[in-house]
Amino acid sequence: MSFFEKLFANKETETGMDSRNIPQHVAIIVDGNGRWANRRGMPRNYGHREGSKNLKKIVKICSEIGVRYLTVYAFSTENWKRPKTEVDALMALLLEYLKNADVELEGENIKIRVIGEKKELSEEIKKEIHKVEESTKNNSGLTLTIALNYGGRDEIVSAVRAIGREIKKGVINPEDIDEKYISQRLYTADIPDPDLIIRTSGEKRISNFLLWQSAYSELWYSDVLWPDFRREHLIQAIRDYQKRNRRYGGI
Ligand code: FPP
Repeated sequence: MSFFEKLFANKETETGMDSRNIPQHVAIIVDGNGRWANRRGMPRNYGHREGSKNLKKIVKICSEIGVRYLTVYAFSTENWKRPKTEVDALMALLLEYLKNADVELEGENIKIRVIGEKKELSEEIKKEIHKVEESTKNNSGLTLTIALNYGGRDEIVSAVRAIGREIKKGVINPEDIDEKYISQRLYTADIPDPDLIIRTSGEKRISNFLLWQSAYSELWYSDVLWPDFRREHLIQAIRDYQKRNRRYGGI
């Protein structure tokens, strides 16, 4: 066995993952923070705080494993329906995450991006998004995309409106529109579609997350609540993904 063969063989036996077939883009519907806290007799916001701490750990693990893009569903366009106290607490937590991210992820070479409708966000959050996106934009490691005030249908509606305006101005003809053209008008224009979508907490829904982009994604569900989601669960998801035969509609 050559040195390189040994190197790869060791990597495979240690985690059971095939290091040559790591999903390039993993997207996670982080779910179960509230139930995790309730089970401990604690307020829901305590669960969100633990969920936020866990995200930092999972970002580093993804980066170590060789995942290039990680996208997390932090706040959906529907989450505004929650009680104001919870929405306020979530916004405060997201702000804190964005403020501390570059320091806490220092040395990790992580690029941070936020997708979603920014109009409804506070000026403070918008400022922080701009700051963290600017300060990490030249990093060449994992791209962490935080979906904040994000809705898949909302994203498609915005793209359709933009294209409608282009037609009205005479910039394009309806016949020029193809899948690529639409993809380029989504928030995710510069990142590949997710290979693997994970949802924690036992729910088996896509919940308006990356509707267009998930057309050929592999889905993996776990009963584990997000604050308890560990390295071993991620590895389990990736191993399961590696057993699948992605045919993209072919045979
Ligand atoms: C799901 O738990 C989580 C959310 C609604 C989003 C908040 C996510 C975090 C705080 C994770 C960290 C993310 C960032 C970017 C800081 P839930 O409230 O739906 O749980 P439940 O289904 O048990 O009620």
